[in-house]
Amino acid sequence: MTPGEWIAILDYGSQYSQLIARRIREQHVYSELLSFDTPGTELQQRKPAGIVLSGGPSSVFDDKAPMGDPTIYDLGIPVLGICYGMQMTASLLGGVVQPGTQREYGHASISITENGTLFRDLPSKINVWMSHGDQVSQLPTGFNTLAKTGTCPIAAMGNPDRRIYGLQFHPEVVHTAHGTDILRHFVFDVCGCKGEWKIAQFIKESVENIRQRVTDDHVVCGLSGGIDSSVVAALIHRAIGDRLHCIFVDNGLLRYDEVEEVEQTFGDAMGIDLHVSHSQDLFISKLKDVEDPEEKRKIIGNTFIDVFSSEARRFGNAKFLAQGTLYPDVIESFSPIGGPSATIKSHHNVGGLPEDLQFELIEPVRELFKDEVRELGRELSLPEALVGRQPFPGPGMAVRILGSVTAERVALLQQADLRVQEEIATLDNYPDIWQSFAVLLPIQTVGVMGDTRTYENVVALRVVESMDGMTADWFRVPYDVLARISNRIINEVRGVNRVVFDISSKPPATIEWE
Ligand code: XMP
Repeated sequence: MTPGEWIAILDYGSQYSQLIARRIREQHVYSELLSFDTPGTELQQRKPAGIVLSGGPSSVFDDKAPMGDPTIYDLGIPVLGICYGMQMTASLLGGVVQPGTQREYGHASISITENGTLFRDLPSKINVWMSHGDQVSQLPTGFNTLAKTGTCPIAAMGNPDRRIYGLQFHPEVVHTAHGTDILRHFVFDVCGCKGEWKIAQFIKESVENIRQRVTDDHVVCGLSGGIDSSVVAALIHRAIGDRLHCIFVDNGLLRYDEVEEVEQTFGDAMGIDLHVSHSQDLFISKLKDVEDPEEKRKIIGNTFIDVFSSEARRFGNAKFLAQGTLYPDVIESFSPIGGPSATIKSHHNVGGLPEDLQFELIEPVRELFKDEVRELGRELSLPEALVGRQPFPGPGMAVRILGSVTAERVALLQQADLRVQEEIATLDNYPDIWQSFAVLLPIQTVGVMGDTRTYENVVALRVVESMDGMTADWFRVPYDVLARISNRIINEVRGVNRVVFDISSKPPATIEWE
């Protein structure tokens, strides 16, 4: 996508790269991440109003340090290097970078030595967030020092004539005071952007791109019931109408009434060509007597691929597969440290599909964050219940039923979960909740109902707040709401006589119980 006015961010691997894009889009200027080695010729052709070079974990002294194309500095397009991006700029333009003996990480106070454009109207001292080892010790020709700290004599540098700047600290994180102002000064005052970008424009441009790319071919899209794939389906449907074919796999592990909701929204209301694969018996039979969480995930993932592939083969004329990949998913799937996040959503990945299904991928929201996708969904007139929906794991209720999964236990958990959803939705601060759900434990406890002793299931309630699912804290649900949830589950859901509340944070606990 190349809208009229946009900022390119070359990504050198910082955990904050996507945040820079996001901070710029918040100012109504479109921004997109590109690979660190994007050639100058490509940038010249796509005409960004400015280029930001992100930070990154490397040192310019590493053999394998990612290096940008040096011609990007000669395009006449303003450049802002952040942290590693500043050090790389200094070293490519003839300055000197001094290797750090240890990494400086955390708060620092900078003194602004030259207000110029970037720091215009800012206080002379500001608290910033540093995360670096090396630092620039000698400026390239034509550059001035704009700010310093006690340990870093060149904390910001600039060459106003060439409109090239560098910041040793991270303006994109909330810990940097006036960080947004600094980015705003770069985007508006240095790059000359006007800030007219709106999500509606994203839709318009995205629809045009999809039309151009797909021409008169067909697209297959897997719907999951979640917001990401729903928005993608709505967007592609707007672009190519009935040449979009959606497949929804009912794996028997979904939320209560979810299949009907998807049929209603996409089939009935939007008139999308929707194919529901009723495969619940297959999934449940494959999960029989399986208790190990990873084994469950593997079985569900493989069965999903089999079912989806055979459904997709029915659209032999389709050339494309649409996916609701978001930026955080892109990051997760390339996680250098591996771990659970690296495998999350692996079964949604086209990599798992058989070779004879050679689809080209369409991922129209891969630049966006969850809340931006929500905004997109609203603009596309998707129902609020869908747009505001909480994340739901691919393996669904299977990882919320500890022990073996049966159709009866899924039905029981769906009923308990429905009560949780209904009561939690009454909270004023509902939007602050990342996920709320019920978990069915593999134990029975003693209770009494009327004059009879019972020996029935325990349901755990999990309610968490989180920014991105990577860390989470248990949500302080008011006692009266907890009481209503507990009463309703125990009175209305047959087979449960005890409800407990999970008060663990992530880490060390995870959000899901399996
Ligand atoms: P955890 O349990 O790891 O979950 O704290 C973090 C976020 O990821 C979701 N999750 C999954 N999503 N497939 C998915 O698509 C999975 O196997 C899976 N496991 C966890 C979880 O719901 C939470 O939002």
